[in-house]
Amino acid sequence: MTSQITLKRPDDWHLHLRDGNMLHAVLPSTATHFARAIIMPNLVPPVVTSADAAGYRDRILSALPEGSTFEPLMTLYLTEQTDPNDVAAAHASGLIKAVKLYPAGATTNSASGVSHFDSVRPTLERMAEIGLPLCVHGEVTDSDIDIFDREAVFIDRVLDPIRRTTPGLRVVMEHITTSNAVEYARSQDDTLGATITTHHLVINRNHILAGGIKPHYYCLPVAKREEHRLALRDAATSGEARFFLGTDSAPHTDANKLLPCGCAGCFTAPNTMSILTQAFEEDSALEKLEGFTSLNGPAFYGLPVNEDTITLTKGDPVTYPSHVETPDGPVTVFDPGFDLNWRVE
Ligand code: NCD
Ligand code: ZN
Repeated sequence: MTSQITLKRPDDWHLHLRDGNMLHAVLPSTATHFARAIIMPNLVPPVVTSADAAGYRDRILSALPEGSTFEPLMTLYLTEQTDPNDVAAAHASGLIKAVKLYPAGATTNSASGVSHFDSVRPTLERMAEIGLPLCVHGEVTDSDIDIFDREAVFIDRVLDPIRRTTPGLRVVMEHITTSNAVEYARSQDDTLGATITTHHLVINRNHILAGGIKPHYYCLPVAKREEHRLALRDAATSGEARFFLGTDSAPHTDANKLLPCGCAGCFTAPNTMSILTQAFEEDSALEKLEGFTSLNGPAFYGLPVNEDTITLTKGDPVTYPSHVETPDGPVTVFDPGFDLNWRVE
């Protein structure tokens, strides 16, 4: 029985760090285990220009714990006003590693996102030319589309047309939640990648809704039926290069989660590596964990694999603090609902 596993240090290909007090409170959780992360630009106001991204990167670097070598990989928030030249310059200078597409209104702080996909065509074409990936929040926002169907409908109505009209554009389907997305990803060439979160590998929609509503399990895209969770587990543990970890760790204060209209997001940064190791072990796929957390993402983004490693050891149940404190109030850490036996050394 395996009792210790050593992996190339993981990266997180989809992370929300926020700003100010929250940034300072949550950054150490990621910087302790991960070498790099793709930083989501959905601040208020959003990170839309290269100047915004440079400023945000500096604030992240100055919030890092002493001695940390964590590297934030910056993104720009795509709007209908985005200037393709600004994007290209930010890419050429090495400042940004991706551009993020939020359909307007799809999720937290997405009001400045895209409503008319034709208006961002010049930017997408430029990105295809220069090899800059587009990270996609893949949900339609039409009020007449059931929230559990929004990802599958997005693939047909938006993603596939973008893929067909912008050949060569590198696209990441982010935080996929359905077997439809897994199948679509598998049908495409290696210009398409897909991230999977930690929480979508362990919860289905019953966890949110059965036996009382659990706001801390509410995130977007919302968790789906069990058959979809199983499809995600199959994808994550398959070893296929197109699938890699993007935790979508998305901290909100408990006060903001527990409102009558509470915020979407699960805060998984502190215990993600323990949860994933447990899940991969349960599926007899520990030998596939390193690909998912540490190899496939860098390969997609054309970045080197990290040189150092982390080791997890199996033993008595490991506990994580149930909350991270911030000056604005506590942030609840994701509870996977089972004991965690793998500890990050
Ligand atoms: C994210 C957030 O809070 O910023 N929330 C979430 O439920 N995942 C936004 C997002 O990635 O959709
Ligand atoms: Zn997110």
